[in-house]
Amino acid sequence: VPATPGHDHGTAGMAGMAGMNSMSVADLTGPKTGIPNVNVTLTARKQKFQLASGETVDGYTVNGTSPGPTIRARVGDLIQVTFVNESVKDGATLHWHGIDVPNAEDGVAGVTQDAVPVGGKHVYRFKAEQAGTYWYHSHQVSSDEVKGGLFGSIVIAPTAPGDVVAAIHTYDGKRTINGRTGTSQADVPPGTTARVRVINTDNAILRVGLVGTSYKVVAVDGRDVHGPAPVTDAYALPAGGRVDLEAVVPAGGMRLVAGTPALSLAIGPPGSNPPSANLPTDTVDLLTYGTPAPIGFDPGKANRNFQYRIGRRPGFLDGVPGLWWTINGHKFPDVPMFMVAEGDVVRMTISNTSGQAHPMHLHGHHAVVLSRNGVRATGSPWWTDTLEVGNKETYEIAFVADNPGLWMDHCHNLPHASQGLMTHLMYE
Ligand code: C2O
Ligand code: CU
Repeated sequence: VPATPGHDHGTAGMAGMAGMNSMSVADLTGPKTGIPNVNVTLTARKQKFQLASGETVDGYTVNGTSPGPTIRARVGDLIQVTFVNESVKDGATLHWHGIDVPNAEDGVAGVTQDAVPVGGKHVYRFKAEQAGTYWYHSHQVSSDEVKGGLFGSIVIAPTAPGDVVAAIHTYDGKRTINGRTGTSQADVPPGTTARVRVINTDNAILRVGLVGTSYKVVAVDGRDVHGPAPVTDAYALPAGGRVDLEAVVPAGGMRLVAGTPALSLAIGPPGSNPPSANLPTDTVDLLTYGTPAPIGFDPGKANRNFQYRIGRRPGFLDGVPGLWWTINGHKFPDVPMFMVAEGDVVRMTISNTSGQAHPMHLHGHHAVVLSRNGVRATGSPWWTDTLEVGNKETYEIAFVADNPGLWMDHCHNLPHASQGLMTHLMYE
């Protein structure tokens, strides 16, 4: 299979040359044997296709639609996905956003594998270890391929009557929930405790919330929130992030509103038409939401402390001047990698003086938020894989380096990633 360079990273061929002692990325695979509980083939195509609501889009599909099929698995399942690239000319991969898979299954072109060329295929195998809401997307020329529709949802939880997935995406200026513009509907009997899994696959933060009821924020980025309380505020969902909202469906139904009342999903009995409404201006603040619970490690005992300063400056790339996003003064691929050893407790201080907000996504790990702008987190442990860092904000996060490999850490406003806001976490 001919190799296609990893356009996302400009570092094709890193797979196999990682400096992890005697390890290489290629050895850090999921289970090589065992019959998969979930076994699917996902085929990527470049094509004109129709959204579920009928509009025509020129972009990318997975098995003929966008979003692609929702993959459902249960904790403990072995998942096998055979990815086929039928006609995506830059090559493509699948990355399991938010699932802390073994490194070789992470699907990053130029880092953990070569992009799958037209006519090629790649098999991913990993175990579903943490219940939650995730998504998959190409990680090759992501700013084009994800935007164009090369993505889908993956939910690790048994299917239940009140379990609703709502993937929000903008195609060619058409804003959709599950590929439908305007208002759409999900049938859930009144009295059911619904869990609405909202996934922001766009490049910008989005305010979401349920109207017609109060609700609880029960999980963020595939990790449960401890001791959630009912709210009626909106929830600010970062690009790439997920939030699970829980509510008992009222007799007349309720509505998930995404940004404006014009984009919504009615959840209730067939034919119900609950009123739509503007979302409140207040948003749930995860720094204080929920109640404390153990996090399983001591961030006070950190043996790595990193500064991750996000800025912006003019510079040259291949001789062409531009305005680049920077990390500690450098843009990708000139940013020194963050080096860790397995078992390290890592603290990272992410500060942002770049003039814009950035949804920062760390692959392969979940981090706990310790503080924002010097104010300590006092709510539920706030685990995240995609953290919105506003302009002039500083977050302190901590995680355990427990998943060896070479991992991306980048802005999920994907054009920003291609404009330099990207680095690696690497195990020595
Ligand atoms: Cu959702 Cu590096 O990506
Ligand atoms: Cu950004």
